[in-house]
Amino acid sequence: MCGIVGYTGMEEASPFLLNGLRKLEYRGYDSAGVAVYNDTGLHVVKSKGRLSVLEGILEGGTKLPGRVGIGHTRWATHGAPSDVNSHPQVSDGGKFAVVHNGIIENYLALKNRLISKGVTFTSDTDTEVVAQLLEYYYDGDVLSAIQKVIQRVEGSYALGILCSEFPEKIFAVRKDSPLIVGVGKGENFIASDIPAILAKTREIYRLKDREIAVLSRETIEFYNGEGEPVEKEIEHIEWDISAAEKGGYEHFMMKEICEQPEALRKTISPRIRDGHIVLDDIELTAEYLREINKVFIVACGTAYHVGVVAKYAFERLLKVPMEVDVASEFRYRSPIIDEKSLVIIISQSGETADTLAALREAKKQGARVLSIVNVVGSTIANESDDVLYTWAGPEIAVASTKAYSTQLAVIYLIVLYMAEKLGTVSGKEFAEYVADLERLPEFVASCLNDKETIQYFASQYFNAKDMYFIGRNVDYAASLEASLKLKEISYIHSEAYTAGELKHGPISLIEDGTLVIAISTYEKLFDKMVSNIKEVKARGAVVLGITTQRKRKAMLDAVDHVFCVPKISDFMLPSLSIIPLQLFAYYVASMKGCDIDKPRNLAKSVTVE
Ligand code: F6R
Repeated sequence: MCGIVGYTGMEEASPFLLNGLRKLEYRGYDSAGVAVYNDTGLHVVKSKGRLSVLEGILEGGTKLPGRVGIGHTRWATHGAPSDVNSHPQVSDGGKFAVVHNGIIENYLALKNRLISKGVTFTSDTDTEVVAQLLEYYYDGDVLSAIQKVIQRVEGSYALGILCSEFPEKIFAVRKDSPLIVGVGKGENFIASDIPAILAKTREIYRLKDREIAVLSRETIEFYNGEGEPVEKEIEHIEWDISAAEKGGYEHFMMKEICEQPEALRKTISPRIRDGHIVLDDIELTAEYLREINKVFIVACGTAYHVGVVAKYAFERLLKVPMEVDVASEFRYRSPIIDEKSLVIIISQSGETADTLAALREAKKQGARVLSIVNVVGSTIANESDDVLYTWAGPEIAVASTKAYSTQLAVIYLIVLYMAEKLGTVSGKEFAEYVADLERLPEFVASCLNDKETIQYFASQYFNAKDMYFIGRNVDYAASLEASLKLKEISYIHSEAYTAGELKHGPISLIEDGTLVIAISTYEKLFDKMVSNIKEVKARGAVVLGITTQRKRKAMLDAVDHVFCVPKISDFMLPSLSIIPLQLFAYYVASMKGCDIDKPRNLAKSVTVE
């Protein structure tokens, strides 16, 4: 959600900025712009629409010479997508150009105050307030103006700032929205995310909340919010650059779907030793675990759906009560938490605003917070008591796939770790579960082998207007994720229901030709699912059944098409049933000509509430 990149050095800034913004496109945006300083002053070029529009205006960057600049892709919050609302936003007197990720919550009060003092605003954005405030407080010292501004603004921000009186410098500051500083040779960078600068450097600093960075071609200085110098530690990025490239695939989403076996191996293997689960350096003693009165899982979107699977596993294997909540609800519903509660936070990006706020709320109420995060060093990882990383590598496509799979794997690891400590499963069962978990990457790979069946099925139904996903128990949890995947990238209306709930209302939506995808891998409830399938078939539905090899024949008798997955321990089934349905969503969206990696209105990292 919004992207920032900045450059100061000896090369032309504009082509670098455009290239950096390209690498951040996956975050989702609706307009883009750059500000570049050159001999004739500070110049801003920005436009609504895709980056290609801006590239066209700038003729690939050649039209705007200059060696210092900042760039931005905007995902509209305050003010519609338009040229004027795009960033950079410039102050009334033209001294400051600002790019901003996040939301300034008290912008209206600040704006009204500035208007009463004669400042003229041109946009509807909250960001313009920052540019205007900077100029208002500026008395020749940018650092002190930034300090005053961050004392007054409320909300979240990552800011890249140019000041016309310091033509070689970039200023940057952040709170609750990520920002990094890249270190080059005779050139330095800022960015909201690593891929933007990875082609140039692997040495970075991560800004902490309210830290200010001042960059020139040769120097980088850091200050805290009080203006005192701060020493920071440099971090080396290990990723292979190809991890952030498409590597021959047409879309990141397909690449990431296919990377799942490998991502699972990396997430699972180092944590199983001699048949036991080893959770990095986390020590949850049996005494502590016995004291836990409730486990909460809090997350958003796909990560929340991982929580829904987790509930079945926790309650069955651990007999611990669990609540699963979407973060935006959790934080405002007065959940009953105390120091005996364990709160598990799940987030790919580690920056989701609602999830972060839920984490802070849980900590405030005394709970221990264990987070499952993909992005190392992200805010959620930093603020949690314990962190378990999903070693999925960078997930670029907006629709989450390998993050979902690896988050599920970490949940299974946690459940088994606790089950062993608490002695809630027999040694034999435990060994079987661990063996299944070790084989999970191989099982997922086998589900990926039969893409053609799913592609064919997608070709038959990609014109459908509505689709319904049904399941029971863990299959219902998988239905939720399958339905989200389909709707977010193909824009087809879809819903997920527990199959037993159909007769209480939703079945009235079924008519001749309605497509129903019935997930029925949980064999204990297979016969009940068949009854529900019959109910929708009797009303004209066309049904695709997802089941295990063992139930293939019985499923074929009940539905129109079948896709089979291997048999695995019940609570791990969603890891397999989701694979054909990720592929299905992908092929349907592709056949409809949708922008698969960057679906409309969506952003990869949702850093606003
Ligand atoms: C859907 C999707 C989103 C995210 C959600 C949480 O495919 O990716 O629903 O799961 O925005 O994001 P993170 O996991 O970064 O907190």
